[in-house]
Amino acid sequence: MKWSISIIALLLLWSCEHNQEQNAQGKWIKGTEQEKLEIVESQFRGFDMAMVETGYRYQELYWAGQDENWEYADYQIEKIRKGIENGLKRSPKRAKSAEHFLTVAIPEMEKALEKRDILVFNKNFQIFTNNCISCHAMEKVPSFTIKNHFTDNHL
Ligand code: HEC
Repeated sequence: MKWSISIIALLLLWSCEHNQEQNAQGKWIKGTEQEKLEIVESQFRGFDMAMVETGYRYQELYWAGQDENWEYADYQIEKIRKGIENGLKRSPKRAKSAEHFLTVAIPEMEKALEKRDILVFNKNFQIFTNNCISCHAMEKVPSFTIKNHFTDNHL
């Protein structure tokens, strides 16, 4: 009798744990392999998250320049490139508008950074900002205006 009670108790305990495990974190990607991939893809998001990252790094880049912290500026421009490239993998329809930015605007900024000169940097930062704005115009999101509040020079 005692034995059977302990066995029932053990079984109950096991089934509780088993249920909890199914609801635990990390078990929410369900369905067929294809459905699971789609869930993972949607969690990576589209170009919007690349832009949230770009917006942040753009500001960090600006302040790195003002602080003449050139290594940090180098780091930020590299990550802006990576973020946009990854964003384009998720959202290839943006690739054409991004082309000038990747092949001209970013390399120009990298060249300006090599000078380690705040005047060169500030001049280039304006051009860089114009390139953000022109892609927003091409992509029909002109309301996402990048104002360069930092230099009081509203573009
Ligand atoms: C491919 C062209 C392209 C380039 C280059 C580009 N953007 Fe964007 N940006 C977009 C698009 C498209 C959106 C709208 C995102 C969406 O709807 O998926 C956007 C949205 C944004 C947003 C709003 C993000 C949000 O969801 O809150 C910010 C901030 C932004 N861009 C900043 C910048 C800055 C700063 C630069 C330059 C360093 C830049 N962008 C360069 C196309 C571009």
